Amino acid sequence: MVVAIDGPAGAGKSTAAKLLARELGFSFLDSGALYRAVALSLTRQPGSAAERARDVRIELGDRVLLDGEDVSAAIRTPQVSEAASRIASDPGVRAALVKKQRDMLQQGDWVGEGRDIGTVVAPHAELKIFLTASPEARARRRAMDLGQADWRVVMKDQALRDQQDSEREHSPLRAAPDSIELDSTDRPVEDVVRQIAGLVREAKSRRGEGEAGGAAGARSGGQAGGGAGARSGRGREAGGEGAGARGGGAPPGGAPFESPDA
Ligand code: CDP
Repeated sequence: MVVAIDGPAGAGKSTAAKLLARELGFSFLDSGALYRAVALSLTRQPGSAAERARDVRIELGDRVLLDGEDVSAAIRTPQVSEAASRIASDPGVRAALVKKQRDMLQQGDWVGEGRDIGTVVAPHAELKIFLTASPEARARRRAMDLGQADWRVVMKDQALRDQQDSEREHSPLRAAPDSIELDSTDRPVEDVVRQIAGLVREAKSRRGEGEAGGAAGARSGGQAGGGAGARSGRGREAGGEGAGARGGGAPPGGAPFESPDA
């Protein structure tokens, strides 16, 4: 089973996806880490972005390894965030990284987090969430993660990335038409995770493989349990809203993978 969680920068996707994966016993795919790792590699050694995306070996798990080097911290700087967003508009980069992601998702149960999991990487995902929160809430959370005192500074960078991510020609940030939109502006991440876990149980029971009668639940066009409203079938532009605390626990062992070309 694949659960796709997409949304704008700082929407709390990473924290929610990690916690959810741990709770469900699923592997966790942090797709942004792939774009970040390629961007880091290019800042160190300029070259063709598409070729680099194809050739580097990236392993995801408790740590992010780039050709064997632990780059977990190095890929989180604002410079790498910006560079990642820039190279993410390159169709060759996207093709290479989408392939790596699809290879991973072929086996087992996954929570995948990013911008295009539900639209491009795994359009057949059994559950798709589009996680948002207000730009201010997102900037405040991100500022806290970065130890940056002034969240307004972070909000400027964020607006640029939102724009780049939503206006690019290839795989722009969009909610999948069959996604459920959750706004976590004033909600603790645990609450959001509880709601999504309920939706996963519902999806499983619909497939006849989970316990009957899941917990919270929004269906297409319905109202979500567990607090906030959830809408389905409505795309929304990045920068509208996003939610989220960042950081958080270790992923539950996303299987390491290597580029087939590496
Ligand atoms: O954590 P945050 O949302 O700030 O960023 P991220 O998920 O680590 O992704 C970094 C950048 O990679 C984003 O700004 C996107 O441009 C790009 N990205 C993408 O294009 N597609 C994805 N599935 C994931 C990330």
